[in-house]
Amino acid sequence: MPIVFQPQKDGMERVALVGEDGRELSWLILLCQRIHIGRATVRAGIVGHVFTPEEHRKKGYGRVVMLATLDAMAQRGYEIGFLFGIPHYYLKHGYSVVEHYYATVLELGRCKVEEVSGLKSDRYCPADLPGVMRLYDSYSRRRTGAFVRDRDLWSLESSRKALERCLCVKNSGGKVVGYAKWDGKFFYTRLIGRDCMERMLVVPEAVGANARAAQGLLFALAGVARAEGRDGILFLGPPDNALSIAMYNLGGQNRRAIVPSGGAQAKIVNLIPLLKKLRGDFSARCEGSIFRREPISVRVGTDMGPVDLSAIGGKVRVAPGRGRKFDWKVTAQELIRYIFGFCPPPELPGAKGLFLKTIFPRQIAHSWAPDEMI
Ligand SMILES: CC(C)(COP(=O)(O)OP(=O)(O)OC[C@H]1O[C@@H](n2cnc3c(N)ncnc32)[C@H](O)[C@@H]1OP(=O)(O)O)[C@@H](O)C(=O)NCCC(=O)NCCS
Repeated sequence: MPIVFQPQKDGMERVALVGEDGRELSWLILLCQRIHIGRATVRAGIVGHVFTPEEHRKKGYGRVVMLATLDAMAQRGYEIGFLFGIPHYYLKHGYSVVEHYYATVLELGRCKVEEVSGLKSDRYCPADLPGVMRLYDSYSRRRTGAFVRDRDLWSLESSRKALERCLCVKNSGGKVVGYAKWDGKFFYTRLIGRDCMERMLVVPEAVGANARAAQGLLFALAGVARAEGRDGILFLGPPDNALSIAMYNLGGQNRRAIVPSGGAQAKIVNLIPLLKKLRGDFSARCEGSIFRREPISVRVGTDMGPVDLSAIGGKVRVAPGRGRKFDWKVTAQELIRYIFGFCPPPELPGAKGLFLKTIFPRQIAHSWAPDEMI
């Protein structure tokens, strides 16, 4: 039975297994997106809308479509696969959970949100887009997991719709210094805010240029919450976001959740090209460590082939490995978790272990899906 790749609008592609009668038996949508990992940008094949009609389920059709999709990603040179998925299903295809979900909750009845002089807020209008894009870009530049959003992505119908429920905070010169969206149907709202989502204003995305701008955003959002009869704010952002910090400082509560074996998941598709893209970050992390002076080399054995990681004068090199004796054996499915900083690598004795801990530190990886439906 043939697999058909069919281009759709907005750069998406439909991958379908077609039966003998010409009807589709199972399908998914594939989209190539760029994602930040530290300061690097990698090409990620994003899989979404995975579906097999009920009468055809559990016959292996979904698996065939997924394997063909992963094959296409590898051929096209994508470094990773990434998706927001149901529990258990994607682990079988080599994906790993790489991110937590985060939120900060603030009860407005228990605090006083001060106005910030010199800042004013307005509903978003299309003329604000360059300012909003600039803020998103500077916020996400080094945020592992963040999607690179070009103008095309911001222009998707779903993105434009989301901006209808968005406010911008501007300084006295009229420059956009903060934006915040509210409402929207994100599946993880229920995961992290089941107890309060109905009575609070849900803010799925917000960026403030600095602490002052974030305070201005919070004041404006409190106004929206009051106008809509909500008694608090549920912000779906990581704890180091300036708005989360402003909320926390007023008595807000930080939350962290996980979809066991599901949610934001990634998979390595092309190992050596991926690690080569991460060299800049690896080297920057070695700069402030003993590996600036001490040369080091770790022979890594993976199920995607051997890799040599070494550092001389703090400069990290990545090269295809040789031989069969390894200092560290790791599966690609584990390695992607260390690359996203989701958990630290296991202890290895001596300098080699310290080197791995240095180049794979824990991070707060976080993705705001560019599309509510993904
Ligand atoms: C998930 C879905 C696409 C699976 O399609 P399918 O054609 O039945 O999948 P397959 O027959 O190829 O199953 C492959 C493996 O996944 C397992 N699996 C199937 N559905 C699963 C599910 N919902 N959760 C976890 N594992 C599942 C199967 O048991 C099988 O395991 P095995 O290889 O160890 O036997 C299908 O159930 C579906 O359309 N569900 C509703 C839509 C949905 O939830 N999509 C995912 C959005 S992220």
